[in-house]
Amino acid sequence: MLEALVSDAAQATVRALLFAGIMTVVGALCFAQRVAPAFDGDPAGAQRVRGRAQQVLRLATALLGVVLAWRLVQQAAAFADTPGEWPSQVSLVVTQTTWGTGWLVQGAAVLLVALSASPAFRPMGRQLVPLGIGALALAVTPALSGHAVGAPRLAPLAVTLDALHVTAAGAWLGTLFVIVVAALPVARDAAPGIGADLLARFSSLALASGGIVAITGLFASWLHLETLPALWTTAYGLALVRKLVALGGTAALGAYNWRVVTPRVRATGDISALRRSALIELAIATALVVLTAVLVATPLPAEG
Ligand code: HEM
Repeated sequence: MLEALVSDAAQATVRALLFAGIMTVVGALCFAQRVAPAFDGDPAGAQRVRGRAQQVLRLATALLGVVLAWRLVQQAAAFADTPGEWPSQVSLVVTQTTWGTGWLVQGAAVLLVALSASPAFRPMGRQLVPLGIGALALAVTPALSGHAVGAPRLAPLAVTLDALHVTAAGAWLGTLFVIVVAALPVARDAAPGIGADLLARFSSLALASGGIVAITGLFASWLHLETLPALWTTAYGLALVRKLVALGGTAALGAYNWRVVTPRVRATGDISALRRSALIELAIATALVVLTAVLVATPLPAEG
């Protein structure tokens, strides 16, 4: 049982869940700031949307709590002579390694996000400070324990752009997830025009975030691949190609939502087609996140 929890597959699973949790938290922040105001003219709808968004945030926080505990067991098991002896390594891993510092930052950030999702912070304005700090801190942490921080050249730039990459990915796909779960069920019964306004608000955010994801992703690809043939001659390059194929599907669905579904919603007020295509976009995005979790643990071409 413990072997399964610390296996390579389990480590990739935990990383994928970590990315998904971080992206959802960033999405909840962007949703509160940018998309939820579409419901300003409908106080009852706005209250329902806020309640549902808080629930999504609470679930993401619970997921991140489980992920952090699981990661600690995996890391401690990697330090122990046998996985079963992991408890004896916990304090060393947390207090005396850089990994442990990153883990503590993640823990503090998750606590801040949990605080922001508690009923005491129900009014949206008051929750934004702990949520904002927690979300941004979480978005920086993957860069501090992966290829970016270990890059032999341009490491500070790599860490900064990697954090931006994760933030923008969350602003796009995390916000879409919160919209589908928290806003679309309410928009269905809300005043006409709210669905179209919601989409207009999301489209500009998704376009800007998609651009940032592409630029920062290209930079990371250039930095880590070093040569173009490495894209098809190394395990790292091929893992990146698989991620880019999934990205193609996500981006194509996003473009379809933007160019075809959004004008239809604007004309008819019917958001059911949007829900369908957004769900497919999120399903492909899930594959993209899993492939990313494999990519970040694949040795770089220079290490191979
Ligand atoms: C919405 C689309 C995307 C999502 C959700 C996404 C997500 C992520 C995440 C979560 C990371 C992990 C960061 C870390 O652990 O430090 C990452 C890293 C990376 N991404 Fe993306 N990404 C997307 C698009 C792209 C694009 C378009 C490219 C290339 C053109 C790209 C190339 C990379 C590379 C090279 C890394 C670094 C992997 C490593 O550390 O070895 N990504 N991405």
